Amino acid sequence: MSVYILGIESSCDDTSAAILEDTTVLANVTASQDVHRAYGGVVPELASRAHEQNIIPVIDRAFHTANIDKKNLSAIAFTRGPGLLGSLLVGVSFSKALAIGLDVPLIDVNHIEAHILAHFAQKKDKIKEVPAFPFLCLIVSGGHTQIVKVENYDKMTVLGRTIDDAAGETFDKAAKIMDLGYPGGPLIDRLAKEGDASAFKFAKPRIKDYDYSFSGLKTSFLYFLRDALKLDDDFIERHKADLCASIQKTIIDILMDKLERAAKDTGITNIAIAGGVSANSGLRNAVTSLGDKYGWKTFVPDFEFTTDNAAMIAVAGYFKFLKGEFADQTAKPYSR
Ligand code: KG4
Ligand code: ZN
Repeated sequence: MSVYILGIESSCDDTSAAILEDTTVLANVTASQDVHRAYGGVVPELASRAHEQNIIPVIDRAFHTANIDKKNLSAIAFTRGPGLLGSLLVGVSFSKALAIGLDVPLIDVNHIEAHILAHFAQKKDKIKEVPAFPFLCLIVSGGHTQIVKVENYDKMTVLGRTIDDAAGETFDKAAKIMDLGYPGGPLIDRLAKEGDASAFKFAKPRIKDYDYSFSGLKTSFLYFLRDALKLDDDFIERHKADLCASIQKTIIDILMDKLERAAKDTGITNIAIAGGVSANSGLRNAVTSLGDKYGWKTFVPDFEFTTDNAAMIAVAGYFKFLKGEFADQTAKPYSR
């Protein structure tokens, strides 16, 4: 018999609901929040309010699209953390109330693990190969940058992580310095396609093991532009594409260097990327070509499952459902 899971994601600035039949995505509906654009970053208080407004319409649309009756639901999976507490509270509280109303069990999901398990979510019309265990996953998002060794759905070890900024944050900050808009990652990605990645060089960190650091790069970029603007007011405007290509290439080189090392040292040849920054065309190409070079089997997620979405929460919930791991009404959100 099929398992139907409703997934609810509200950890940051996307309100998302998905319905899966086992691992097949029947609906994955996301409302992004435009209110933050004017501020150049997520404003937590505004995010919680927007989640409050979006959550019912988003869930309603997910049920419509999936075309299943609420009575058939097997469980509700929700993001418990990490994330913004006020944002998480909306999804957690709503999930608890709905679980009582529909008399179904609750499943709490870790947002980062869900980004990884997004690789197991299948689109109805396009079944894809999923990574075999063990695999390495580079998770790159607005809040996280980690290399994780994944030995099973519930056995994951963090091999390295950023000691300061996340990769997505670095894209967003670089875009902000160039006054491109928010979120910066997709904007830089688009402009980089027309630029020369070797036009400018920026500082790369020396950090131990498989850890990352991006704060030095951000500062190096900021100071470089500050000096250049002193000589030429129009510097950014005239070199926008080259700047985007160069900063993107630097971020990708930093990311790939540690991933390559981790793969060599562990001998693991199944390599995946996940999280919002895994939508980046340069990163997708870089992991694929490194894979060709070393004979890795690489896994790049469908765009729909890169940035925050509830399908990944529901699929992570599905694996916990199979093991009978449920949460109860006392589950509280956690920020880190
Ligand atoms: O996973 P996500 O939606 O949220 C977090 O859990 O943080 O990731 C959002 C991040 C933002 O920093 C955004 O700029 C970045 O992912 N991002 C990209 C691209 N699309 C989204 N970064 C680089 N290139 C992209 N195409
Ligand atoms: Zn995320």
